[in-house]
Amino acid sequence: MIRNVESVWQSVPAIEGAGVYLRRVFGHAQMPKLDPFLLLDDFSSTKPVDYLAGFPWHPHRGIETVTYIVKGRVSHEDNLGNKGTINSGDVQWMTAGSGIIHQEMPQESERMIGFQLWVNLPSTRKMMAPRYHDVGRGEIPEVDYKGALVKVIAGSVGNVKGPVQDLVVSPEYIDVSLQSLSTFEHPIVMGHKAFAYVVEGDGHFDPNRVVKDGEIAVFTNGDDVSITAGSKGLHFLLIAGKPLNEPVAWYGPIVMNTQQELVKAFGEYSNGTFIKHKPQI
Ligand code: FE2
Repeated sequence: MIRNVESVWQSVPAIEGAGVYLRRVFGHAQMPKLDPFLLLDDFSSTKPVDYLAGFPWHPHRGIETVTYIVKGRVSHEDNLGNKGTINSGDVQWMTAGSGIIHQEMPQESERMIGFQLWVNLPSTRKMMAPRYHDVGRGEIPEVDYKGALVKVIAGSVGNVKGPVQDLVVSPEYIDVSLQSLSTFEHPIVMGHKAFAYVVEGDGHFDPNRVVKDGEIAVFTNGDDVSITAGSKGLHFLLIAGKPLNEPVAWYGPIVMNTQQELVKAFGEYSNGTFIKHKPQI
């Protein structure tokens, strides 16, 4: 059964971090519509002044953050001394688990194209040891077929598996570029939530629905998606995962199941006992 488009909306301007002008594709306001996904921010820009303020020191607990830099550079550093740079084509899949305190600072470039997705963790894993999956562009397989160029970050396309595996909600995260009027068909596990965010161009995400750059298409349930590019071609992210169906208590960068857990987390952050485990690299 082919999935249709259930709803479409446009990303909206938002200011985050120390004054980064970005576009919020979805967030608190849409919860729990995208479960297990909590938030998607698009910080693409041609003006460095939009993003140079960056995201200075802040904590995370109870979630995973996935930073995908199509073009540009973001330096990051955590309070335990781990540091590095996410360069064009790289992905950082960070499981905050029990807690991480870090900063993420976009660096000046001619054109920044970057996204951050927040994936919720189930109650049983919210306090797991943090870990990083730093995935360089060379580790991300590219599948080229029938007018589609597909980068597989997580999940699989045909028999090609993405490098980010062993994750709780079995997420799929693929970057698809389609030539003019070509079609991409892809199976998605029945029951998993799936959406596409259009980076460039436009196309039919079901036979009756055209979706264009800056818009998100949320799919109905089903086995497959079938997407056809418009005349100028189409670049989109296709993301899917298993819903958690758990209560969400969310404030800022910390997402737990109950209000008490949230209060505890912020209390620990202010009294210096927030960090529970050393991250696995
Ligand atoms: Fe962060």
